[in-house]
Amino acid sequence: MQIAIDGPASAGKSTVAKRVTQKLGFIYCDTGAMYRAATVLAKEHHLAYGDEAGILAVLEKSKISFKPAHPGEDQPVFLNQEDVTLAIRTPEITNNVSQVSALPKIREELVRQQREIASGHDIVMDGRDIGTTVLPAAELKIFLVASAAERARRRYAENITKGIMTPLDQLQTEIEQRDYKDSHRQVSPLTKADDAVEIDTTSLTIAEVVEKIVTLAKKRK
Ligand code: C5P
Repeated sequence: MQIAIDGPASAGKSTVAKRVTQKLGFIYCDTGAMYRAATVLAKEHHLAYGDEAGILAVLEKSKISFKPAHPGEDQPVFLNQEDVTLAIRTPEITNNVSQVSALPKIREELVRQQREIASGHDIVMDGRDIGTTVLPAAELKIFLVASAAERARRRYAENITKGIMTPLDQLQTEIEQRDYKDSHRQVSPLTKADDAVEIDTTSLTIAEVVEKIVTLAKKRK
């Protein structure tokens, strides 16, 4: 079974996806982490974030891999042998990832890798284009939304635990800018799949959202 969870930045996708994964015993793939890892790769190789050919060349020679996520923690992400779990979440990477993810050849390569990860597994995959492009035949598609103010508050609280001190109003502006870029790019922009179930998480707890998704998943299995 494939469960696709899409939605804008900081709508709670990965928190919810990890818990759903644990409840159902599936594997989990955070596709945002892969675009972030490609952005780290560009930075490490001193490439411009719009240098499609340059980033593709290093991406094809690199391996992005995951280790299982522990409850309440980010899923460990590796770029070759290097642990980039923290490096992919710095403000510089967060504020430039949308430029890298808009590059068609980078998307093509990462979508290929994502389909490979999904093949033959029960999987929860989260991102922006999972239900529309990566796994269009997913048995369950969820589109998670929340107000920009609430998403900024959640990101602020999460950042504090990581020692990132960006002010709340700046975070909201950055989230809105990233939503705009992700929704207006040419290739696979962020949109709700026609057959996705939309859940507004603004006034729901994590447990309530997880319960809704698990219930839907059990019905469709
Ligand atoms: O989910 P997260 O916020 O970590 O994603 C980081 C960025 O990666 C997004 O803002 C978007 O630009 C890109 N992304 C994407 N397609 C996906 C997942 C993420 O373009 N499936």
